[in-house]
This record gives sequence, C-alpha cells and structure tokens, in this order.
Amino acid sequence: MRVGVLGTGMVGQTIGTKLVDLGHEVTMGSRTAGNEKAADWAAGAGEGAREGSFADAAAHGELVFNCTAGTASLDALRAAGEEELRGKVLVDVANPLDFSKGMPPTLSVVNDDSLGEQIQSEFPETRVVKALNTVNAAVMVNPVAGSSIFVCGEDAAAKEQVAGLLQDFGWRAEAIVDLGGIDAARATEMYLPLWLRLMGALGTPNFNIAIVR
Ligand SMILES: NC(=O)c1ccc[n+]([C@@H]2O[C@H](COP(=O)([O-])OP(=O)(O)OC[C@H]3O[C@@H](n4cnc5c(N)ncnc54)[C@H](OP(=O)(O)O)[C@@H]3O)[C@@H](O)[C@H]2O)c1
Repeated sequence: MRVGVLGTGMVGQTIGTKLVDLGHEVTMGSRTAGNEKAADWAAGAGEGAREGSFADAAAHGELVFNCTAGTASLDALRAAGEEELRGKVLVDVANPLDFSKGMPPTLSVVNDDSLGEQIQSEFPETRVVKALNTVNAAVMVNPVAGSSIFVCGEDAAAKEQVAGLLQDFGWRAEAIVDLGGIDAARATEMYLPLWLRLMGALGTPNFNIAIVR
C-alpha cells in the first residue's frame, strides 16, 4: 500500500520505518521538501522510502498518518491539502501538547473538545481514526505483551483497516479497544497527563497499560 506519513520526528520515523519494513511504499512529509531529517530517513529506511512536502506525502498515500506536533497539526493538514486527504483514512497519532509554558506540557484542547474532533470537523470527508497516541513511539511498533491500545473514529471500515495495520505492527486483535466515535479522542488525549506522571514514576517511556476485565 502507498502510505503518507506527515511528520519527521521520532513518531514519523518509527512508523515510517515499520511500514517500509512491512513492504509499504512510504512518503514522509514535512513543511519543506528536502527537510534534512526526512532526507536522512529516506536514505536509510530502505527501498520503499521517499520524502517530500506535507502535500506530496498526502497525495502519495492511500492512507495517511498524522505524526505532527499536536499544536501544529491543523496547519500541517491544511498544508497537506483538503483535496489530497479527501476520502482517505487519516490515522491521527498526535497529542495536543503545549510546551509553551514549560514542563510539564498542558493540553491545548481539552474536556469538551479534542484534536481528533477538530481534525474530523475541519476535514469532514477524511476518515479520521485516532490511534497509538497513548504509547511511546517505540511501543507503537513493539507492543508490550498483554497491553491495550485504543482506536476511535466515525467510520467503522476505517477503524477496521487501522486495526489490521495495528496487528501488522504486532498488536493482538484482543489488545485493540474500540472506544466508539471520534469524541473518544478527548479521553485518549486527556490520558496524557497520567502518561507523563507514569513515565516519571516508572523512569521509562517504554510502558503501557492493560485493560483487565
Ligand atoms: N514522541 C512520542 O513517542 C509520541 C508518542 C505518542 C504521540 N506522540 C505525538 O505524535 C506527534 C509527533 O511527535 P514527534 O515527537 O515525533 O514529533 P514532534 O516534534 O512533536 O513533531 C514534528 C513534526 O511537526 C511538524 N511541525 C512542527 N511545527 C509545525 C508548524 N508550525 N507547522 C506545521 N508543522 C509543524 C514538523 O514539521 P517539519 O518536519 O517541517 O519540521 C515535524 O514534521 C506529536 O503530536 C506527539 O504529541 C508522540
């Protein structure tokens, strides 16, 4: 499959590399084609790896990952282009973390709204699925055995496709918890303050939680 990965940070690189390893053709997008991090990634990731602008990556992808800084995601997606994203599944991995007031970051959208909903509302013909935002990049593609991962979104077929990809990433089908509509992004984004405290308490970002019935 052709996949667009918007974002050149740790998440974009980790997901991009996993997708290439799985045999997908991946274009990593950034604000500027030729971005140094994206070019280095494309040079090292293997045969299926390319880089370009956000719009190049979105145009390339049959499915697109949003791995941009949460407070900049709407701008990045506008640059990617409504037309390029129309009808496509957009896996939103971003968290609306605002570092402008120092550490720990606050959430720039919270309680009765979320980044996932803002993206779905601004791009109504894009099939947004929020996923993977509750774990560190390394864990996204190397799940902790027995732990849980959440998906939410309005489009059942899109969520099914993303659940299939998550299984390719190593998540077991029973680990994937469908929380319902995109408004559940409020919950998974508001988990971040707890995630940050857990990272401090455990001394590592490489952990996850398990839902136990
Ligand atoms: N780090 C993790 O393990 C982790 C885990 C779960 C979720 N997340 C979420 O995943 C997302 C990516 O995280 P990350 O740490 O890989 O990278 P990041 O540093 O949060 O974001 C990097 C990307 O954001 C873009 N960006 C920054 N400012 C922008 C602006 N003003 N306009 C447009 N684009 C802008 C950058 O564009 P350029 O390429 O042009 O510089 C770059 O591609 C974030 O939302 C984060 O909260 C991260």
